[in-house]
Amino acid sequence: MAQAIEGPRLVLLGTGGTIAGRAVQAADNVGYVAGQVGVAQLVTAVPALGSVSLDVEQIAQIDSKDMSLSVWQTLASRIAAHLERQEVQAVIVTHGTDTIEETAFVLQRLLRPAKPVVLTCAMRPSTALAPDGPQNLSDAVAVARHAGAAGVVVVCAGEIHGARDVSKSHTYRLDAFDSGDAGVLGCVEEGQVRAFRPWDSAGVGTPYDPKALARFVAAEDLPRVELITSHADTDGSLVRALLALPHARSLRGIVVAGTGNGTVHHLLSDALQDAQARGIRVRLTSRCAGGRVVPHPGLAFEDAQGLSPVKARLALALDLLLEA
Ligand code: SIN
Repeated sequence: MAQAIEGPRLVLLGTGGTIAGRAVQAADNVGYVAGQVGVAQLVTAVPALGSVSLDVEQIAQIDSKDMSLSVWQTLASRIAAHLERQEVQAVIVTHGTDTIEETAFVLQRLLRPAKPVVLTCAMRPSTALAPDGPQNLSDAVAVARHAGAAGVVVVCAGEIHGARDVSKSHTYRLDAFDSGDAGVLGCVEEGQVRAFRPWDSAGVGTPYDPKALARFVAAEDLPRVELITSHADTDGSLVRALLALPHARSLRGIVVAGTGNGTVHHLLSDALQDAQARGIRVRLTSRCAGGRVVPHPGLAFEDAQGLSPVKARLALALDLLLEA
C-alpha cells in the first residue's frame, strides 16, 4: 500500500508481535494472540502518519518468539532494497518485543545502514484499554525523520536504544528495555528527538558488504551455535550430548553464559574444553544482566566482546557463516 503524498518517503514493514496483537477483552493485557492485525491497519491508529509519504508492506505475521531465519532473510533483503531507493529516508519495522533485540542485532550486523532502520513494538495488544503501540509507532516516525538518526535502533516507551546494547529487561512494564552501561541513545518527547550521544557509537560506520547479505539470504541454515548457562550443580552432559549430534546438523559453536565475570563450573568447563579441542568454537559471556566479562589472562574461551548471551550466539553463527 502506498500513500500519495510528496516528500521523503518512509517505509513501514510489519512482522507481527504484540503491537499487532488482539485480545478477546480490552482489559486483558496478557491473554492475547500476537500478530493478528495487519500493519496497514496499525497505521490508522496514528493520525500523524496521515501526513507522511509511506509505503507499507507485511513481511510476516508472527509472535516474535517464533522468529526464524527465513523471516530474517526476507526482512533483511526487503530493507536493503528499500534503503537503496534514493527517495526513502528511513525504514520502520513493527516487531514483537521478545526477540526484537536479536533482529536488531542481525540487521545492524548485516546492513550497517547509514539511513535509520527503526524497530518498534508494544507491550500491550492493539485491543487494550490503553495500547502503547500507537505512541511507539508515532515515536518511531519521529526518529525515522530525525536528521541525526542512523543505523538500526529500537524505539519503545519514548526511549531510543542502539542495536548492540538493547535487551528486554522486564516482562510486563511498558518501558521493557534497557541498554545497560551504554545507556539509551536518546529519547522522544512530544514528537521531538533529544539525542544524548552520537549515534555512530551504536556501531554505524563499518562498511556494508552486499556479498555478506547475499550469503545470509541464500543460507539454508545458520551454523549451529548453542547457548548453555553455567549454574550451581551442573555438569558437562549437555555439551557431550551436543557433541554426539548426527553430522548433518552438527555443532559448530557454543556460547556459555558464565557466572559473574565469566566463571564456569569446572565440570562444564572440562566438557567445553573437550569441545574446543574438537574444533567447536566456544565464546564466553556472563549471565549477569549488567556489565561485561572483563578480559583477563588465562581465560579458556574466546571473549564475546561484551555481547549479551543471545547476541553472542548470533554473532558467532554469523561469523561462522560469513567467514566460511
Ligand atoms: C512477541 O514478541 O511477538 C510477543 C510479545 C510482545 O511483542 O511483547
